[in-house]
Amino acid sequence: MLASPHTVESVLKTGKPGESLTLNGWVRTKRGSKAVSFIALNDGTCFDNLQVVADLEKFDEELLKKIATGACISVTGTLVESPGSGQAVEMQAENIALWGEADAETYPLQKKGHTLEFLREIAHLRPRTNTFGAIFRIRHHLAFAIHKFFNDRGFYYVNTPIITGSDAEGAGEMFRVSVLDAKNPPLNEDGSVNFEEDFFGAESNLTVSGQLQAEIAALALSKVYTFGPTFRAENSNTARHLAEFWMIEPEMAFYDLEDNMNLCESFLQFCVSHILGHCKSDLEFLQKMYEPTLLERIHFVINNPFKRITYTEAIDILENCGQKFEFPVAWGNDLQSEHERYLVEKHFNSPVIVTDYPKGIKAFYMRANDDGKTVRAMDILFPGIGEVVGGSQREERYSVLLERVKEQGIHEEDLWWYLELRKFGTAPHSGFGLGFERLMLFVTGMGNIRDVILAPRTPKNAKF
Ligand code: 4AD
Ligand code: MG
Repeated sequence: MLASPHTVESVLKTGKPGESLTLNGWVRTKRGSKAVSFIALNDGTCFDNLQVVADLEKFDEELLKKIATGACISVTGTLVESPGSGQAVEMQAENIALWGEADAETYPLQKKGHTLEFLREIAHLRPRTNTFGAIFRIRHHLAFAIHKFFNDRGFYYVNTPIITGSDAEGAGEMFRVSVLDAKNPPLNEDGSVNFEEDFFGAESNLTVSGQLQAEIAALALSKVYTFGPTFRAENSNTARHLAEFWMIEPEMAFYDLEDNMNLCESFLQFCVSHILGHCKSDLEFLQKMYEPTLLERIHFVINNPFKRITYTEAIDILENCGQKFEFPVAWGNDLQSEHERYLVEKHFNSPVIVTDYPKGIKAFYMRANDDGKTVRAMDILFPGIGEVVGGSQREERYSVLLERVKEQGIHEEDLWWYLELRKFGTAPHSGFGLGFERLMLFVTGMGNIRDVILAPRTPKNAKF
């Protein structure tokens, strides 16, 4: 049996002098004197290392030489009071097994600091650094908080499909899923590819959003949410875009836009507080290393209601602020990230919910307002990041929706089932999508979205 009931975390929290136990982990550093070696052991269960003391007379010199930075070991020993500062206990090693043939000299993660860019090149090893250990522990707790929030409020978790036939957003930036021979595909008479011969008998893609299918579930189970991977082939090589990212999409029957905003605000506050309560030492480390205002920003979000303005009010502020923007500000244009950042970071200095966008720049399914010009959309903008949430009240009126579908040139036949949800037992309903990695940027203070996911997928990059 290899598994040990003990971890570095459990030992540092509750270990008592005199206990004898086994730990498995990786050597962060080793230093030594003539008589003993001090090994800093980390197993990823918490930020801190456990100090393991190996008396040189007890261990083979060759073995101790190999137990250097990067090596993986299993060590059995007795906990003793730690004379050094900080930790209550350390381990006096009695037996050490070395896994593999440690090659300390060529191990890329030496003790010196490495740049985040360099660590992206060795994404298979970067979880063993302090920074990425912290990030992946926080990512876990954030995912857990999300499930807890919805579960505690009577939402059901549904899994929407990854492969879809329809393009939910009409965005046309999807990854195709096909088994046809790329060099020699079957063709129609007009020369186009005949997808009827493809695996699904129709053109198929990776989903950009689970929303449309989440609506199926909400119109039966009332309150549901999805939490899954989504894919976008947009060629945005920015610090905020991934080609594969995770999205949380709640969908609620009998919720209007205001209910939707209220839910989203308390949801974000809950998740962020949960991290504060569960990841203290990781947050403190990230604050020290990367973002001096991290904890301040987190507290601000928890303690202050988000500002709420309409798109028309936002345009008004931007037109009259005296600031020069690269992209023109005009009613009807989409807000660019420079505009969003001005609103959030300069004007309000707070998270902002912008509602009621022009219908021309939003998706077909958003509920039309009576003014004939705007739709019941909401975007939530965060300081330092920009858009973290996009959502809306959905158009539940069959004829209005049908007209919107036609207006946008979407094939009605592709959406027959979505339209039928409005024919049979339609209900007012709303929902939103939270970009998981965008929220991760906020709670970790990291500046690049490639650094909050295990193996980032971006244009020209699907390594690891
Ligand atoms: O605003 P979006 O496109 O909204 C939707 O997909 C709706 N169907 C959601 C819904 O109402 N159920 O995307 C939602 C969020 C954005 O606000 C952003 O946080 C994130 O997804 N996002 C991305 N995150 C990382 N990389 C990308 N390329 C992203 N595109 C969107
Ligand atoms: Mg959006």
